Amino acid sequence: MRKPIIAGNWKMNNTIRESKALVTELLPLIKDANCDVVLCVPFTDIKSVVSLTKGSIIKVGAQNVHFAENGAYTGEISATMLKELKVNYCIIGHSERRQYFGETDETVNKKIAACLKYKIKPIVCIGETLQQRESNQTKDILKNQIIEGFKGYKSKDFEKIIIAYEPIWAIGTGKTATAQDANSTIKHIREVLKKYFGLSISQKTRIQYGGSMNAKNAFELMSMPEIDGGLIGGASLKAQDFSKVVNYDKK
Ligand code: 13P
Repeated sequence: MRKPIIAGNWKMNNTIRESKALVTELLPLIKDANCDVVLCVPFTDIKSVVSLTKGSIIKVGAQNVHFAENGAYTGEISATMLKELKVNYCIIGHSERRQYFGETDETVNKKIAACLKYKIKPIVCIGETLQQRESNQTKDILKNQIIEGFKGYKSKDFEKIIIAYEPIWAIGTGKTATAQDANSTIKHIREVLKKYFGLSISQKTRIQYGGSMNAKNAFELMSMPEIDGGLIGGASLKAQDFSKVVNYDKK
């Protein structure tokens, strides 16, 4: 019922030239994918990646957006600007933005509205730190991120929203949550969605796992009933690796 969605998050990697080489190599490798495929690229790569992927199954995403329509926000990019470049998705509230750039659940909440206004699908990241996990706070942290981040959003909005559960201790560390662990935490996320937003939203919202997901572990993670996709960092930077994640169902 929920179509799987595999998204690459290039983070601050790939010049225009490098991105062209990567996408050109990737396109034939993923053309028979059975899932939605998204590349979330740096702002400077958007135009060329949109042009290279036109007519293919790849959709292009940004990695951040400002919540305001326009104005005196030096260095920021608005949703109108992204829409003009034909961006379809935008990562919001990635843990690296929360950690280094002061992103909060409140700004996440506003950014979701900016995206929805311009029909950009938000990929909203939530997740706990190692310290929070070790002190048994994971469930509460996720619950708060969901309640505050999605405050005010309704069924119609959730049709466009994707959630990415990214345990921070698993990002870029080579440490993956076990498939069972990721599955049960995502199950908890659905329970929170059900309690605060309703059964239908909890059943329909696509929830990805992110954190050292790669060619080797994608099949097992994607076999879990609650996991609808992946948000892939490191393994999205090589065409061969990313294509194997996208083609996780083809053995
Ligand atoms: P890695 O796949 O490199 O662990 O990164 C995950 C991530 O942060 C995706 O947004």
